[in-house]
Amino acid sequence: MTAQGVLWILLAFLVWSKPGTASLPLVMDSVIQVLAELEQKAPVTEVSLTASARLLSAQDSGTSNPLHHFLLETPSHKTADLDAHPLSPELQGLMKMVAQHEIRGGQEHGVVLAPDGSTVAVKPLLAGLEAGLQGHRVVNLPLDSPATPWDAEATPPGRRDASPEGTSSSDTEATLPNDKAKSPTAVDRLLAVTLAADLGLTFLQPPQTQSHPGLGTEGCWDQLSDPQIFTLLDPKASMLTVAFLNGALDGALLGDYLSRIPEPRPPLSHLLSQYYGAGVAGNPGFRSNFRRQNGAALTSASTLAQQVWGTLVLLQRLKPAHTQLRNVSQEQLAQVATYAAKEFTEAFLGCPAIHPRCRWGAAPYRGRPKPLQLPLGFLYVHHTYVPALPCTTFTGCSANMLSMQRFHQDTRGWDDIGYSFVVGSDGYVYEGRGWHWVGAHTLGHNSRGFGVAFVGNYTATLPTEAALRMVREVLPSCASRAGLLRPDYKLLGHRQLVATDCPGDALFGLLRTWPHFTETEN
Ligand SMILES: *[C@@H]1O[C@H](CO)[C@@H](O)[C@H](O)[C@H]1NC(C)=O
Ligand SMILES: *[C@@H]1O[C@H](CO)[C@@H](O)[C@H](O)[C@H]1NC(C)=O
Repeated sequence: MTAQGVLWILLAFLVWSKPGTASLPLVMDSVIQVLAELEQKAPVTEVSLTASARLLSAQDSGTSNPLHHFLLETPSHKTADLDAHPLSPELQGLMKMVAQHEIRGGQEHGVVLAPDGSTVAVKPLLAGLEAGLQGHRVVNLPLDSPATPWDAEATPPGRRDASPEGTSSSDTEATLPNDKAKSPTAVDRLLAVTLAADLGLTFLQPPQTQSHPGLGTEGCWDQLSDPQIFTLLDPKASMLTVAFLNGALDGALLGDYLSRIPEPRPPLSHLLSQYYGAGVAGNPGFRSNFRRQNGAALTSASTLAQQVWGTLVLLQRLKPAHTQLRNVSQEQLAQVATYAAKEFTEAFLGCPAIHPRCRWGAAPYRGRPKPLQLPLGFLYVHHTYVPALPCTTFTGCSANMLSMQRFHQDTRGWDDIGYSFVVGSDGYVYEGRGWHWVGAHTLGHNSRGFGVAFVGNYTATLPTEAALRMVREVLPSCASRAGLLRPDYKLLGHRQLVATDCPGDALFGLLRTWPHFTETEN
């Protein structure tokens, strides 16, 4: 059956299935299993594309409801018989659990654990896949009132594609909205339905909301072997949680891929297994581990600002009574869009993806942690030496973290794993003591700097370029922006302060060429 048809059936559960309890673990593999079953067994029904838009919009009781309806195809006829679908009750229950994204009582719903250790919201992922399957992406905005100049090729209310099929739109209209740019006339529906609407609305502070504006938080699964409940680390987090942003970015990246490749397109179950596995079409760079880097290549802050602005304008026209958009001027929308796009680009895309302690199963800190006086002025670089091999998977890196923590706590008698952060070769940074607590990494200097270790033995070889870039650029620039590290921080190797070979001859040789490297601490 067609990929669209499969997605359509999936989305149908949001509306028609009876409430169920998922007994399947809330992991990406369960979602892939649902897709695979539908792709294998579903009767080949020619389901209308428009149905998926209807389902998406029916699923959206909240604020972005009219957008999906307008941007993804609108329904034109009664939907097909849903009783014919072949999913088992447990798979139906799973889809029911994960298809709505919500934050209730400090828990985030509609998210699953992916094989790379990241948590991903399913709804924006599905919306991105759907937008990508529909191909052409530029959609003209409807005109709000007769007073607005109506250009010669005026689009009637309702969607119409503004560009030939297959034309990429992500880099058109890259003007900054606050730079007296003219009002947006079109949006990229892929960015609009995945990211732009939620980004814009979150930063557009509504009159009465108790959640924080801005980017949200990570969370912890009740158990990693059979995840069911995801509790946020900051209970007052905004809707733009890390899991939401992950799902939105994955939806945008995969939708972009689907909109560009020629038909026949791969089954969605294959595409997702590759993306959350070894890489799409054999490309190890195109997988969930590197979503932030790929996201930075997909869209710039200025392009995204234009898209957020266009999406907010669209939403205002579609739903003039929208509580957050009523009487908000074009200039205000443009300002919010610029700010939101900048925050997302710098504080999410430009920051390392850090797995919190609970994700690798850290044992509790022993005793009472000592707070750091932030911002710190130093970054001390280590290699772990043991384990000697770089870790390249979430499972491998997590096991390394646990064994180092056990060694530091039980054999060395320390309170916790010594390092502030540990850098894997899987695209992730693992939280050790983190930004706020004094570590045990560089004797005599632990309260002056963060200790960051690469997993591996770098006496004769070097970490991957992605891992190196994390410590050379991404982590320090993100920490400086957040006020955790001084912008003029100094970078040193462990051996410069303590009698040790750490961080290895090869790595230390390279560190000496890095911008913030200093020969002596003072
Ligand atoms: C919006 O603006 C109009 C005209 O300025 C005003 O009459 C109306 O009360 C405003 N509505 C709200 C909800 O602020
Ligand atoms: C680290 O690498 C060096 C150079 O290859 C090697 O001599 C040493 O035995 C390695 N140490 C460990 C613990 O693997």
